[in-house]
Amino acid sequence: MSEKPKFYITTPIYYPSDNLHIGHSYCSTAADTMARFKKLTGYDVFFLTGTDEHGQKIERKAHEAGVTPQAYVDHIVEGIKKLWKLMDVEYDDFIRTTDERHVKSVQRIFKQLYDQGDIYKSEYEGWYCTPCESFWTELQLKDGCCPDCGRPVEKTREESYFFRLSKYQDWLIDYIKAHPDFIQPPTRTAEMLNNFLIPGLQDLCVSRTSLKWGIPVDFDPKHTVYVWVDALTNYINALGYGSEDDTLYKKYWPADIHLVGKEIVRFHTIIWPIMLHALGLPLPKQVFGHGWLVIDGGKMSKSKGNVVDPVKLCERYSSDAVRYFLMREMPFGADGEFSNEALIKRINADLANDLGNLVSRSVAMIEKYFGGVVPAPAEYTELDRKLIDQAEGLWKSVEKAMNALQFSNALTEIWKLVGECNRYIDLTTPWILAKNEADRPRLGTVMYVLLECARIVAVLISPTMPRTPERIFEQIGVTDEGLKTWESIKTFGGAKPCSVVHKGEALFPRIDVAKELEKLEQERLAAIAEAKKDEKKEKDELPAPEEEKTVFTQRDLIAFDDFEKLQLVVAKVLKCEKVPKADKLLMSTLKVGDTERIVVSGIAKFYTPEEMVGKKVVLLANLAPRKIRGIESHGMLLCAASADDSKLRLLTVEGDMEDGCEIG
Ligand code: ME8
Repeated sequence: MSEKPKFYITTPIYYPSDNLHIGHSYCSTAADTMARFKKLTGYDVFFLTGTDEHGQKIERKAHEAGVTPQAYVDHIVEGIKKLWKLMDVEYDDFIRTTDERHVKSVQRIFKQLYDQGDIYKSEYEGWYCTPCESFWTELQLKDGCCPDCGRPVEKTREESYFFRLSKYQDWLIDYIKAHPDFIQPPTRTAEMLNNFLIPGLQDLCVSRTSLKWGIPVDFDPKHTVYVWVDALTNYINALGYGSEDDTLYKKYWPADIHLVGKEIVRFHTIIWPIMLHALGLPLPKQVFGHGWLVIDGGKMSKSKGNVVDPVKLCERYSSDAVRYFLMREMPFGADGEFSNEALIKRINADLANDLGNLVSRSVAMIEKYFGGVVPAPAEYTELDRKLIDQAEGLWKSVEKAMNALQFSNALTEIWKLVGECNRYIDLTTPWILAKNEADRPRLGTVMYVLLECARIVAVLISPTMPRTPERIFEQIGVTDEGLKTWESIKTFGGAKPCSVVHKGEALFPRIDVAKELEKLEQERLAAIAEAKKDEKKEKDELPAPEEEKTVFTQRDLIAFDDFEKLQLVVAKVLKCEKVPKADKLLMSTLKVGDTERIVVSGIAKFYTPEEMVGKKVVLLANLAPRKIRGIESHGMLLCAASADDSKLRLLTVEGDMEDGCEIG
């Protein structure tokens, strides 16, 4: 017997958080759908997920909760595993970065890289808070002081280990150029090359002495391994790389696909390939950076009250409906908007109406006209042939779309058949055929064609919707396992005449949109109130975690033409005053060449009117005017702002540049 081809797919390992939202479920659902599809089409699949449990944030949260970090993560990981069970995310292994197998492997890898000279010891310059015994980077300081205790800090140096990323930069550029499929979708390749690799890589600081909750460097234990170096290696550690039993590693590595969100593509396509190459290991075949599920165009956030809880959705609408929506609604790779309305409308239109009706009408008619016994087809007409050809060839377009991770296209193709079947019912009018005994063979053929199409659809949707196919098979009387396989849908006519159909419950009950939306809105408002309480507590008690403050997130690329539309100019502040009854606003009168204009800016917490006068600032001059507190503002002053809005600085122009000069 020939061996099955291998397929290894991974999700990122998630930070343990007690509120994994629908965005997290997106990646896992996609990976699970792909894993199921590959299994269905004859692959020997290994699907890995897990949790990324080290770092300052966890350490602090555990401290806050009065438990050890290990106890804290243990509890959360249980919740995450329950979520995946609820959503039918059926992984082959779940790796935790606190697993001994992972810890030992990270230490071995770090040592090997050190021994061969790819990791070296040097000094890391930063800021030190003596009372707290903590190192901070420039960016982490709060108004120049320790973000923990608010006391002054001193410039200092910390002994650190560094990884020679710079040494491998040219190799990686060549590799990426020679392997255009390595980073997908292709726009992300350009992003990595242009934004990170071509400008040049610096060696990466890969150890911290200030962080205790992490993996110690075993030959120098006061150092803790940098969280990303720790996390990335999970993909080989789970397979037993470097351990006594590396059978799985030998069998499955290199991975076929690392599925990751777009903001972490750079870790997976710069640090990770360089680490692997330095270790002499092959690279994953592909890193696919998917887009985000956004709400009102922005990221989900607790305080906006728009964190969508997948558990609630699954309990309300079923996990299959949620999975279908996630995979159907937006092209994989692009951002997509989540809304309750869109979800409910999809359930009603695609699942309750299209798919649900096809199955329930076919079964009901076979019950009514044939006593529930599937009739044998007589002769096929041209109309039948058209539908049969579409059904028989469907696996090809679905396979093509799925292999390119175009889940939405694959489902669209399947739903074309569902739509055609419903039209076929309208065209063949079985209820009229049923009136005439002479039309009985024709009626039988129509019923058979419908039933067989429903069977084919059930097999095709099974990777995305693992529960629904069994319910369809049960209703249409398919019991033979051989009729549930991928091979079985390549030839029309598998369904067995004489089997018995069973009318069951509606696959997806119709939802009353208006009522449902009102109920959800009430719940949302209650959640906002709750989250505001939580967030205030968190803000008061916890400094923002290291990752969130320092990571810059790349947005979608724009064309140069788009950039050129912005008119940026040097402007001089002539006058400035506070806007009455508005704590945050300053109104500035600017001189721009021979003209003057008024601009209102939300910067009063960071600058006094006196400080503003005389500054040469950067003005976005062709922004459409906007009325702010009754004052018409003509443009925008550009500023740098920290993610938590605690710091803000105006962009100013040095030297003797005249106001009115263009910037670009
Ligand atoms: O990044 N839409 O973990 P994480 C789509 N531990 N995807 C989203 C999303 C949204 N709204 N919000 C989050 C980490 N994600 C690291 C990974 S791998 C070696 C280490 C996705 O829990 C996000 O893009 O913050 C990422 O791929 C995944 O959830 C885990 O995010």
